[in-house]
Amino acid sequence: MDNKIKKILAKMTLEDKISLCNGADFWHSKAMKKYGIPSFMMSDGPHGLRVQKGEADMLGVNKSEPATCFPTAVTGGATWDTELIRAEGKAIGEEGLSLGTNVVLGPGVNIKRDPRCGRNFEYFSEDPFVAGQMGAAWVEGAQSTGIGTSLKHFAANNQEYKRFNGNSQMDERTLREIYLSAFETVVKKAQPATVMCAYPMLNGVHCSDNKMLLNDILREEWGFKGLVVTDWGALCDRVKAMEAGCDLSMPGGSDYMEDRVAAAVREGKLPESAVDACAARVIRLALLAKEQELEKPFDIEAHNAVAQKVAEGGAVLLKNEDSILPLKAEDIVLIGDMAKNMRYQGSGSSHINPTKLTSLVDALPGVPYVACCNEKGEVTKSGLSEARKAARDAKIAVVCAGLPDIYESEGFDRENLKMPEGHVRMIEAVADANPNTVVVLFSGCAVELPWLRKVKAVLYMGLPGQAGGQAAANLLTGKATPSGKLTETWPLRLNLVPSYETFGKKYTHYSEGIYVGYRYYQTAGAPVRFPFGYGLSYTAFSYSDLKIEDRCVTATITNTGSTEGAEVVQLYIAAPRSGLFRPLRELKGFVKVFIEPGESKEVSFTLDDRSFAVWSDGWKVPGGVYAVELGASSADIRLSGELSLKGEEVPVPAWQEESWYEAPYGLPSDSDFTMLFGGPIQPEPEIRRGNFTMEMSCMEMKDFSPVMNSMFKSTEKTIAQGFGGKVDYSDPTFKMMVMSGADSPLRAMVISSGGVLPANVAEGMVALANGNPIAGLQSLGGKSAADKEDSEKKTGKGVKKITDRLDAIKSIKLPARKGKSKKRRHASGSGENAEK
Ligand code: BGC
Repeated sequence: MDNKIKKILAKMTLEDKISLCNGADFWHSKAMKKYGIPSFMMSDGPHGLRVQKGEADMLGVNKSEPATCFPTAVTGGATWDTELIRAEGKAIGEEGLSLGTNVVLGPGVNIKRDPRCGRNFEYFSEDPFVAGQMGAAWVEGAQSTGIGTSLKHFAANNQEYKRFNGNSQMDERTLREIYLSAFETVVKKAQPATVMCAYPMLNGVHCSDNKMLLNDILREEWGFKGLVVTDWGALCDRVKAMEAGCDLSMPGGSDYMEDRVAAAVREGKLPESAVDACAARVIRLALLAKEQELEKPFDIEAHNAVAQKVAEGGAVLLKNEDSILPLKAEDIVLIGDMAKNMRYQGSGSSHINPTKLTSLVDALPGVPYVACCNEKGEVTKSGLSEARKAARDAKIAVVCAGLPDIYESEGFDRENLKMPEGHVRMIEAVADANPNTVVVLFSGCAVELPWLRKVKAVLYMGLPGQAGGQAAANLLTGKATPSGKLTETWPLRLNLVPSYETFGKKYTHYSEGIYVGYRYYQTAGAPVRFPFGYGLSYTAFSYSDLKIEDRCVTATITNTGSTEGAEVVQLYIAAPRSGLFRPLRELKGFVKVFIEPGESKEVSFTLDDRSFAVWSDGWKVPGGVYAVELGASSADIRLSGELSLKGEEVPVPAWQEESWYEAPYGLPSDSDFTMLFGGPIQPEPEIRRGNFTMEMSCMEMKDFSPVMNSMFKSTEKTIAQGFGGKVDYSDPTFKMMVMSGADSPLRAMVISSGGVLPANVAEGMVALANGNPIAGLQSLGGKSAADKEDSEKKTGKGVKKITDRLDAIKSIKLPARKGKSKKRRHASGSGENAEK
């Protein structure tokens, strides 16, 4: 293969090599027949396929082919069952190939730093060990079919606010131990075909241009062999990105910055070998993709059964007073719109057109049902009294509630952890009418439960996919035993979350450092609603016979109840309390065991150096006595033993003593973070006329510039056209589209518009907005800012040009909207449209 690629490269012109590194259209790489390079297709991911054969978009708005909608990662992660997730990955791989796609864009292993992140539902955990193991199993399963995967979003993309041009700032230890670790595991264990670089900056450098991230760490340290693709519109500087090893820019259709790369090579500023390396990786994937066996039909029923198993295995029983569950279907009434219109997946690029859909109402035919609220979670007086009456008439009232779409989505974060007020009123009304009330919760992340004491049981389904209703019915009626455990802490209140003050800023200070999730709550002894690793069962398990021999840990788990069930046994290590600061406990192993009543099973774990290591200018194992703990959750340690390690001396920073990090409690301050960060923290860029750049969005600049305001308004209006002309920020799709369009930096708009918004127009507008009409006119006249020579000649073109261009801008059609644009070049096709 390498020789073949070399031969192809040798024939290619510099321009063609550069051009190959930009995609052809929304989903395809370029085909270059004259060199024998085929195109390949990528489709979202991650919990099923979003294959678009018609109008393309990156937000899940337009139609996609029917595919199995598996539970999202919040539920998949909570299974703690790597075999099941492997089976899910395999099914997704089969479907992808069957639908004609070569690479599925998943899984997402970003860390859930804060429960407000709108995209948490797509990620596995707050803990890098769980996220890494789950992600690796998923990739292994998918790639076993021959399809490629794309591990995303690399890296430090932990909020939706300003995801396109935000700046995640953190110290290296936090980066290594928390935010890179899951990616490292997946790369090393499973070699995904591609890694998708994330939108934001990491410590001031865009992930697309980040040589340290993409080359030094990913390729050289971890041995990644595949291709790096940008997130859609994430490319910042094509020259730097080439040098960093960012191979393919997506979506395709624009040639933005290609001329700069060619110029940089000619001027000796960029070695041609960097272009060759990127182009070679695109060619390699294209040739591999050609070998894939596409369009074999897949088994819809079998995949639906896998989706159901994942939903059953990932549902978490949060409360079960008086063992009210399991129940008999004939005893209940179903209340709440979500019983029928189940919230089973999240909004955005992962949105799937399911092959079938089973709600609780469908799964429990004959059971009375009262909607009580509407899809937004709003209730009326009459709805509430109908629900009360129905609850009184039944033995047990089962209320379905949670977060409607409007509350969480890709593209924006939540402002708080509240459920809709209507849902709270509905639950309270029902619980007042019938003390035997059970709540089935649907949401992509933790919510506040002000009504918890009033109800007997809570079954948390997460976002359980298309078979979620059947899974919930089986769990409620005891056909399946709950065995899921939370892979994220449910905080008691939002202001107890250690990132409370720093989350959701454009330039985000990761000032809590390594104390994310349970690493903070356990160390601080801070109260939580439900701890990491928590989940109940209909049966009970005892732990005994802990043996620690060398690095090998074994124990016996017995099912002491009368129902078969599965226990998630978690292994934590607790490092010596002296030395470099460490969390109280850190997860280093887990296993899910299925045990019959009365039966015992041995579980075993093998620890390695990395299980004990910290990052301190490299991975180092501090010597000392470690506790090895086996627990049913991070707050329920059942067995504990000791293990002595020779290890090495790890330096302790002088500032550690008495700092927040030594004994974290409450919120870290800016000065704590300054010490941890150890260098100057970048302040937010000031937005004002005169310092506008292509890195800013028209939404950011609109209040300071009539030109940008007009661009924003026309963008908003264009998007609104897909919504009957209504500007409605309470519609999650509308909001997501505005945030992803009008709040993306102009350079990303140029790329994502597939050539419809030319670079020179955007650059001209920035210059005009900066009060620089001459440069503005030059750009609008056809020269981008990169083309410095020839500038003087263009100055006299007149003001009419500006007005003409503004008119053109008003008619710009953005990607990711409803409706068609004749001009669009990235409507999905064969990839041949960019044929040279
Ligand atoms: C998302 C990615 C997705 C891509 C293509 C982006 O906005 O962040 O996760 O794969 O769009 O739809």
